[in-house]
Amino acid sequence: MKKLLTLAAILFAISGCSGQQGAIGEPVNVKSLAGDSKITDVRPADAMPVYPAKGSAIERNFAEQPPLIPHKDDYKITKDKNSCLSCHSWDKAPRMKATPLAKSHVIDDKGTLNGHNYFCTQCHVAQAENKTPIVENQYGK
Ligand code: HEC
Ligand code: HEC
Repeated sequence: MKKLLTLAAILFAISGCSGQQGAIGEPVNVKSLAGDSKITDVRPADAMPVYPAKGSAIERNFAEQPPLIPHKDDYKITKDKNSCLSCHSWDKAPRMKATPLAKSHVIDDKGTLNGHNYFCTQCHVAQAENKTPIVENQYGK
């Protein structure tokens, strides 16, 4: 019985290993985002992103899309402070002429932000004018 168990264990281990290797001999073609340049080449720097100076809301492409950020997005979000709230919190938004936090982001009728929506740039991305995009946008193609 013990021998049988040992044999079973060995067989299991072998099948486990071969499973991990996947299709043997198939090349994995991973193309670098930097293109065909060699690692030793010094690639010219990408163009600096140019954000709209005074952005207004960008049209959404589908329902429930996190709206794109129509301005720069390097406002600090740390454990203690979320700078996005200095314009988008419910009490500051009207004065800053910014859209207040979505109702789905708050837990009460005073606009207290919930924990799930704290890291704004996890979902909202800034839209910038970059002269040389590295990767073409394939969305909707
Ligand atoms: C100095 C004020 C200010 C700060 C700070 C700020 N915003 Fe804005 N934001 C605005 C204004 C003004 C608009 C344009 C009006 C609008 O659509 O809300 C805007 C628009 C947006 C929109 C588009 C809203 C829509 O309905 O399309 C999003 C999303 C957004 N901001 C997210 C952020 C995030 C995330 C941060 C932090 C990284 C941030 N904002 C920081 C002022 C600010
Ligand atoms: C988990 C993803 C997620 C995070 C994190 C998040 N949002 Fe959103 N946000 C969304 C989605 C999805 C929508 C559109 C649907 C909705 O209104 O709930 C939205 C909508 C908005 C709107 C437009 C509201 C309106 O009435 O049109 C603003 C402004 C906004 N978010 C700001 C922020 C700010 C500021 C933060 C950080 C404090 C943040 N969001 C964090 C997903 C997110």
